[in-house]
Amino acid sequence: MTFSASHLTTHDAPLLGVNIDHVATVRNARGGRFPDPVAAAQWAVEGGADIITFHLREDRRHIRDEDVVRLKASIGAPLNFEAAVTEEMLGIIERTRPEHVCLVPERRQEVTTEGGLDVLGQLPRVTDACVRLAAIGARVSLFIGADPAQIEAVAQAGAPCVELHTGALANAWWAGDRLAMQAELQRLQAGLKLARSLGLRTHAGHGLALSESWVAIPDVMQPASSSTALVAALPDITELHIGHALIGQAVFVGLKQAIADFKAEAVRARQAVAA
Ligand code: PXP
Repeated sequence: MTFSASHLTTHDAPLLGVNIDHVATVRNARGGRFPDPVAAAQWAVEGGADIITFHLREDRRHIRDEDVVRLKASIGAPLNFEAAVTEEMLGIIERTRPEHVCLVPERRQEVTTEGGLDVLGQLPRVTDACVRLAAIGARVSLFIGADPAQIEAVAQAGAPCVELHTGALANAWWAGDRLAMQAELQRLQAGLKLARSLGLRTHAGHGLALSESWVAIPDVMQPASSSTALVAALPDITELHIGHALIGQAVFVGLKQAIADFKAEAVRARQAVAA
C-alpha cells in the first residue's frame, strides 16, 4: 500500500486533524474489536494526518477509556483530546497528557457537538481548566461559534487557540444555500480577524466535507466547491479538524478494494480445498 497525502502538505496549508470517533462508532455497533480506532489512527498518520483528534464523550458512545490509553501508547503524531469541561474529563486528560486539548460543550441527547462552548457564561470554570491543562503542557483550544463576545472570552480564559464551529457553513453548503454560505463565511472571517488580533491561533472544524461526497450536491461557489475548500482557503486557519465526512469518504474510496479483498479470500479458500 502506498500513500501520497503526506506529500501534498505544504507549509501554507492548514494542518489536518483527523477525527477517528466514527471508526469507534462502527466498531461499537457490533460490540467487538473491529474496526479498531487505534489502528485507524495509525493508518491516518501514515496517510498524512498531522494530528489525531478524538472525543471521549461522557456516555462513551464511540471512543472509550481504553482507546485513549492505547492511542497515547502507540501514536507518534500529536493527539488532540476533545472533552467537556468536567472534573472527570480533566482528570483523564491530566493522566493521559495529550499534546493538545479541545474543550467542547456536551449534551447527552445531541447526535454530535451541535453548538459552541459558552466560555463567557462560565469564564471562571473554563479559566481554571485552561490553567490546569497548561500545567501539564497541553496546548488548549476552545470550540466556539464565531461570536465576538465568545472569542474575547477565549482570550480572557487564557487559551492559546480557538476552534471555530463550521457546522452552520457546512449545513448551508449541503443545502446549496449560497446566501447562507456567504453569511456564514463572513461571520467566520470576522471571527478569525478578531481572534488573530487577540493573539489566538485559529482552528476550524465540524461538518466539513468534499464536493464529491457521493451524494448529489448543487454546484455551488466554484471554484471553492466544497465546504472544506471554503474554510481551508481562509488564510488565518492554521488547523482543520475533520471526522464524519472524512471517514465517510474513506468508505467510498476503499469500497472497491474491500470487495476485491473479500472475493480474493473466498477464491483462495476454494483453491485450498481443491488442492
Ligand atoms: N471539531 C470539534 C471540536 C468537534 O467536536 C468535532 C466533532 O467531534 C469536529 C471538529 C469534527 O466534526 P465532523 O465529525 O463533523 O467532521
